[in-house]
Amino acid sequence: MLLEVRDLHVEFRTRDGVAKAVNGVTYSVDAGETLAVLGESGSGKSVTAQAVMGILDTPPGKITGGEILFQGKDLLTFKEEERRKVRGAQMAMIFQDALSSLNPVLSVGDQLGEMFTVHRGLSRKDARTKAVELMDRVRIPAASQRVRDYPHQFSGGMRQRIMIAMALALEPALIIADEPTTALDVTVQAQVMDLLAELQRELNMGLILITHDLGVVADVADKIAVMYAGRIVESAPVHDIYKAPAHPYTKGLLESIPRLDQKGRELYAIKGLPPNLMNIPPGCAFNPRCPMAQDICRTDVPPLAEVDEDRRSACYFWRETLDARND
Ligand SMILES: Nc1ncnc2c1ncn2[C@@H]1O[C@H](COP(=O)(O)OP(=O)(O)OP(=O)(O)O)[C@@H](O)[C@H]1O
Ligand SMILES: [Mg+2]
Repeated sequence: MLLEVRDLHVEFRTRDGVAKAVNGVTYSVDAGETLAVLGESGSGKSVTAQAVMGILDTPPGKITGGEILFQGKDLLTFKEEERRKVRGAQMAMIFQDALSSLNPVLSVGDQLGEMFTVHRGLSRKDARTKAVELMDRVRIPAASQRVRDYPHQFSGGMRQRIMIAMALALEPALIIADEPTTALDVTVQAQVMDLLAELQRELNMGLILITHDLGVVADVADKIAVMYAGRIVESAPVHDIYKAPAHPYTKGLLESIPRLDQKGRELYAIKGLPPNLMNIPPGCAFNPRCPMAQDICRTDVPPLAEVDEDRRSACYFWRETLDARND
């Protein structure tokens, strides 16, 4: 397995109290595989990713438990120096907002080239050639001219392609894309997503795709991990989830996607709000919003139980949830 996150816990210690942002996340992704991580705002998707990349905001953030095995080695035991070598060369991250992630005063050619001069010891001239190759690879038209341009001279979609090029420069084994297309308009979103998926397949990379858009997931992901209040509540191959969710929260997410074949039907929204992470309700964190909640859900935290070999659900009533698919 390329990456295995096991029982990860992250807290933020702030003036107002301790926010339990990640409360025992377990997920994995293999070479050539795409894991989509879903969940509402504040569910801990990005914080988990930051912990994996080693870019958690510490303090106030602190990893209080768990393991992050990358190619079999626990990154949490690495020194910062070793960690830095892994970052960039072996794993890279793509963020939502390219403009604030790219350096505004360096041409894109210089930024892409820097990956090769700094990490690979190439000459400036060779690094420039590599930069143009990368820009071609992410299909930026007229790359050999545009290599001199600055980030603000590119459209949003093109900038996101440059971010992808930066991430791919050193051919990492793992890419984490955190809402990579959210800031783009819909048609450009699809192009950028297709490009990312294509390069991922070509380079046989592991991809963790963080999104709250279940719509984009179906085409590109192999498996899905659904997060709620810092926990994985369901993990499964993508087709299984679309066929029949095994957790009421996943079911709610699925029912809230607009569907062309049901135009005019009122869009379902999950009632209520996600919990305050400084005061997560006892039992299942989803219980106050759950249409299936029983007494046990209000007292006991449901374990991530095996539904079948490659599927897990943290619901006492996953069988009933599966059976209710035709409601
Ligand atoms: N720098 C920080 N300081 C304090 N608390 C933080 C910080 N970063 C994250 N948190 C806490 O961690 C929680 C989870 O944040 P995270 O960014 O992982 O959510 P997310 O699932 O990525 O949401 P979104 O879909 O909005 O990006 C936040 O709700 C917040 O309570
Ligand atoms: Mg986020």
